[in-house]
Amino acid sequence: MRTGIVGLGEIGQHHLAAIRDSEDAELVAVCDLDPELAGSSAGDARAFSDVGEMLAACELDSLAVCLPHSLHVEVAVEAIAAGCNVLLEKPMAVDVGGCDRIAAAAQAAGVAVGISHNQLHYAPHVRLRELIDAESLGALRAIYARLWIGDRYRGWREDPAIVGGGLLMDAGVHRVYLSRALGGPVEAVEATMDVPRAEERFEVTFHFASGATGLIQGSYFGPEGTFDDRIDVLGDRGAAVVSGCEAYFEGDLRDEPQLRHRLDGAWADDAVSDSWAASVARSVSEILAAFAAGREPLVGPTAGRETVGLIEAAYVAAETGGRVETDAILDRDASERAHGPGGRV
Ligand SMILES: NC(=O)c1ccc[n+]([C@@H]2O[C@H](COP(=O)([O-])OP(=O)(O)OC[C@H]3O[C@@H](n4cnc5c(N)ncnc54)[C@H](O)[C@@H]3O)[C@@H](O)[C@H]2O)c1
Repeated sequence: MRTGIVGLGEIGQHHLAAIRDSEDAELVAVCDLDPELAGSSAGDARAFSDVGEMLAACELDSLAVCLPHSLHVEVAVEAIAAGCNVLLEKPMAVDVGGCDRIAAAAQAAGVAVGISHNQLHYAPHVRLRELIDAESLGALRAIYARLWIGDRYRGWREDPAIVGGGLLMDAGVHRVYLSRALGGPVEAVEATMDVPRAEERFEVTFHFASGATGLIQGSYFGPEGTFDDRIDVLGDRGAAVVSGCEAYFEGDLRDEPQLRHRLDGAWADDAVSDSWAASVARSVSEILAAFAAGREPLVGPTAGRETVGLIEAAYVAAETGGRVETDAILDRDASERAHGPGGRV
């Protein structure tokens, strides 16, 4: 597939390497507002600083979009109109309406959309899901997902109008889709935050349809240098803890075991080992492979939209101080009628 990429910043560089490594893609064009960055990233590909010019000039089959959140919808819709399959960084869009625009455009054009929820590809998280699916922990009772950061994201990530919210809509997205993937459908959401939609601190409770409870808690107010993205899962027969994902990339954790579990009454280390960067590379290559094979990626528009909808539900819950039934926000039947049943998560 003739493949391009727009946005060559932090995550764009990881996508670029994964596209170059992919057997399914040929990198033909790169684009960034910063022409020097585009030029230095291009290699043998053509370099652009305007995405419209790139789309008009290059007859791309697929495009990776690694841009600030508020640009995802317009660029995705423009690329879809040019006949591209679109790989989007998280979150799919800043609201459910934006996700619907992308999904409707893709359906009309007959192209595919994949969202990079890379932490679903992190081997300790995959193993955790296997333990849950095999009922090795018994019936699921609780999920605790943390995001304690002892520093701040800077630049555009400080502007709620570009992010579509605060920390929950940014790095918190990973906690949301992972909790959903491990815990199953969410019936209702409760939440408290310091400033909803510009939050630096949040506590979100998921009431899963299974009867289990999920708690996602995050803030910028950890001790300096902290990056704690631990996840704990408790069932009625066992428990498991993934000690972190980005925590290793950010250097907060180094040689600690990545997964520990309490099966048959005793805690033990699991041998599984992986890295955040490898999970990004695997996520990109899985989506490109799905595009090439004409199948739905692991995370398509329905799952991408559901993640954004759960965050919207959390904002409404924090603003109203109440419990929000997700049906009101997700409107699943209407979504599935419009976009198909979606991916596996
Ligand atoms: N999966 C992860 O763990 C992870 C990590 C970091 C970022 N992200 C996501 O990746 C996306 C990008 O984040 P980032 O941290 O790489 O941002 P970044 O600021 O490092 O890079 C964004 C790049 O886009 C370019 N750009 C901005 N507007 C443009 C336009 N109109 N046309 C062309 N280029 C333009 C900028 O010049 C910059 O180089 C976001 O959706 C973010 O949430 C995901």
